[in-house]
Amino acid sequence: IGAAAVERLRTAPDLDALKAAESELTGKGSELAGVKRGLGGLDADGRREAGQALNRVTAEVAEAAATRRSDLEAAARAEVVQAERLDLSEVRPAHGAGHLHLVTQTMEELEDVFVGLGFEVAEGPEVEDDWHNFTGLNIPAYHPARDMQDTFFVDLGDPGDVVLRTHTSPVQLRVMEQQGPPIYVVVPGRVHRNEARDATHLATFHQIEALVVDRGITFGHLAGTIEAFTRAYFGAGFSSRLRPSYFPFTEPSAEFDIQRPDGSWLELGGCGMVHPQVLRNGGIDPEEFTGFAFGFGIDRLALARHGVADLREILSVDVRFLEQF
Ligand code: PHE
Repeated sequence: IGAAAVERLRTAPDLDALKAAESELTGKGSELAGVKRGLGGLDADGRREAGQALNRVTAEVAEAAATRRSDLEAAARAEVVQAERLDLSEVRPAHGAGHLHLVTQTMEELEDVFVGLGFEVAEGPEVEDDWHNFTGLNIPAYHPARDMQDTFFVDLGDPGDVVLRTHTSPVQLRVMEQQGPPIYVVVPGRVHRNEARDATHLATFHQIEALVVDRGITFGHLAGTIEAFTRAYFGAGFSSRLRPSYFPFTEPSAEFDIQRPDGSWLELGGCGMVHPQVLRNGGIDPEEFTGFAFGFGIDRLALARHGVADLREILSVDVRFLEQF
């Protein structure tokens, strides 16, 4: 009886099976209980011998059950520990938090370069009045730049008086009004033109504009600043050139291009000496102070650096496109 019972307990597959086997082997209906009941029918010698054997077997069975129980409990604990284990060496990728848009990044890089050259950053309103966007900048009522095709008008009362600014140049006047010379500011911002969207035009785009007004400022300072900016932003292998042009608010005026190390040219923006009438409109005496200004679009520049040809990509909301930059 003993050997068979011990073997059954030793191989019980789990705690429930062990408990069931134990009560079956030692409970009231068990073989051992039957043997115990039979002791009464034996003589004194036989009862002693059989009693000792019964006690030995009972003890062996109890020990086998206890050993199996502690083995099974240890295995169960080990399983829990394994399941709840923390792998502190595991490396998981960081959450995708997104990042600034390519145009914003470019704008901030440009600001940094100009701040490094000694400029301060200024801003003005996107919804602008006629005076700052046009008239105060020498753009009279009959000028082609005021053509209905080019300008978004905002209906706030007097027809034609409020517009979405078509360039960042109105901030030239605002800075002159707010602070006297010396002025060394750079103006980043969003501008709007009533144009059909295509690969090289957007109705809403971004410009950055520099304005300097101080005593003795010359065209040489303008050309030198554009050249210094070109090397600081694009790199030592790049250079700049000016070509005569016309803007109502600068005199003389020029357009400027950037030459890449491979010799090719990138037409960047417009510039010139601030027109004396514009200085007067900003409350500055042109006999005492002179200044220069230059401005250019940011969007095409941002895309060109990454070899993207179509400006409309700026408006993409496709994460697969955006996350490249
Ligand atoms: N405002 C002009 C444009 O949008 C650029 C410019 C800025 C020209 C400053 C001269 C001086 O085209």
